[in-house]
Amino acid sequence: MCGIVGYVGRKDAVDILTKGLKRLEYRGYDSAGIAVFNDAGEILFRKKKGKVNELTQVLEKEPLAGTIGISHTRWSTHGVPNDVNAHPHLDCKSEIAVVHNGIIENFQELKDSLIIEGHNFASDTDTEVIAHLVEKFYEGNLEEAVRKAVKELRGSYAICVMHKNEPDRIIGARLDSPLIIGVGKDENFLASDIPAILEYTRDIVYVKNGEIVNIDVENVTVKNLDGARIEKAPERIEWDIGQAEKGGFSHFMLKEIFEQPEVIKKIINTRISDDSIHFDELKIDEDELVKARNIAIVACGTAYHAGLTGKYMLEEYTRTPVWADTSSEFRYRDPIVNKDTLVIVISQSGETADTLAALREARKRNAKVLAICNVLGSSIARESDGVIFTHAGPEIAVASTKAYTAQLATLYLFTLYMAKLKCSLSEEKIKELLNEFKNIPSLLSETLSRYEVEGNEIAHYARDFKAYYEKSHTKSFFLYLARNINYPNALEGALKLKEISYISAEGYPAGEMKHGPIALIDENPWVICIATKSRTYEKMRSNIQEVKARGGIVVAIITTGDESIKSLKLNYIIDIPEIHEFFSPILIAIPLQLLAYYVAREFGYDIDQPRNLAKSVTVE
Ligand code: G6P
Repeated sequence: MCGIVGYVGRKDAVDILTKGLKRLEYRGYDSAGIAVFNDAGEILFRKKKGKVNELTQVLEKEPLAGTIGISHTRWSTHGVPNDVNAHPHLDCKSEIAVVHNGIIENFQELKDSLIIEGHNFASDTDTEVIAHLVEKFYEGNLEEAVRKAVKELRGSYAICVMHKNEPDRIIGARLDSPLIIGVGKDENFLASDIPAILEYTRDIVYVKNGEIVNIDVENVTVKNLDGARIEKAPERIEWDIGQAEKGGFSHFMLKEIFEQPEVIKKIINTRISDDSIHFDELKIDEDELVKARNIAIVACGTAYHAGLTGKYMLEEYTRTPVWADTSSEFRYRDPIVNKDTLVIVISQSGETADTLAALREARKRNAKVLAICNVLGSSIARESDGVIFTHAGPEIAVASTKAYTAQLATLYLFTLYMAKLKCSLSEEKIKELLNEFKNIPSLLSETLSRYEVEGNEIAHYARDFKAYYEKSHTKSFFLYLARNINYPNALEGALKLKEISYISAEGYPAGEMKHGPIALIDENPWVICIATKSRTYEKMRSNIQEVKARGGIVVAIITTGDESIKSLKLNYIIDIPEIHEFFSPILIAIPLQLLAYYVAREFGYDIDQPRNLAKSVTVE
């Protein structure tokens, strides 16, 4: 996830473009860059590793002036965050500048053939191929060259392109990465998101996949890939800036919950092609992976819950013994890991001190360490033997949501990848599971669409809980019960709730209820039971009956269409679409996250920055 801004007008482009980037820093802040036309129509640029402020410091020392330009703030995917890999990227003659948000999946094959054709590359990025492709196709019409270039690309992109020979315009294009046009008076804009330009115009055109945009000071034209013109009227946006940064959502947490279908789609697009799974950055030999006799998964917080789910996945389909541990326990208990162990460390930030220490401990003991990580260039990504990035984009809310489901999705694909290497599943079975996996984004969208309007069922349950909590003189609390592969989801649901609503919440394997938690059941607890269709469905029904018999309030997460479970006189029902049991944790995470969100909102707490917590814990 990166942020791009383009400006064509009569004002100081540098000021507008850098301010726009600051408003897009939520999309990434590994490096930033800007390019403008000077008076002579030449392209001048500055780019710098680090946040937008680093770039503005460079611009103070080496100013640029111009009224037309493009800019970029980066969330690295291909190539480490440094000055060279920062955007904009140029062609061989520095006549074309490109900024890009997305991933070009076939960049390596394009790069190889462009090199054979004589093009010189300066960076390790996938983006640079776009500049060289436009150079290759340019015959005096930039829009035409961009149209030809994007037809060669596989993957996702939102781009802004400028050419020395056409210093009055910017061309934009999009496929699966966001791009909007801001329509102004004597000025027009392109941007990844509305906040970047809201200060200047509220008239917005949403660019769709396969559309090519041509903007100059006075005109905006949109065409399709065949060059046919598409008439689009601007929509008026009434948001204030605060709302706009959150994409119209009331909190980053809610925005990130609703981003999950896109995140999983991106993982699918990046990892699966031709029915095979690819982890290009993995860097651990397949032989090493196959010969691992056991696997240890180590992580903290939400990442640990993803790891615990990974234990169920990997054991079931690779038949390899797996244990999962919290990093702070692992590092201090003389763990039995050696050269036969594959240690998987999971971390959204890649900087969590305990996980980093566990990684170092494992490497000291000669284990191979694979990181599943969201942040490119982070310490955990750098120090591991191999890494798989989760591509969730920057997560702003402290309570992790989209990073969790991205970790789960990555673990699913890694499980199937290992199952293929170890021949523990047949090719047909893997193909069948991959096909099921590809349905997850649409099932997530379907689930989320039920809860996107104010006053939805889960919001209503949260309101009831608050009233109940007050009536019980704050004795009410939450108990989350589940079995098998959804047991870690019970832990995660409880963690989400206590993190942001400060109400006691405990997650338990439902079979253990009779060994302790059942003593807590009277009319006070709200018991969240994950009772979707699965191998342990009947057992969960019995657990629900045990709770009901003792007066507990049951909120059951069930499979849509399961009428028979309603005979258990459930107090509240949340239904989710039918999904393969193995993949169900990703879908079930959604109502758990939403319930935590709405309860915290009912109590009026600071949802995005809960007390005492930090997004990245770099102390022991
Ligand atoms: C903190 C965060 C959690 C996160 C945990 C692990 O406690 O508040 O949301 O799950 O750290 O962080 P990591 O970046 O290693 O995934």
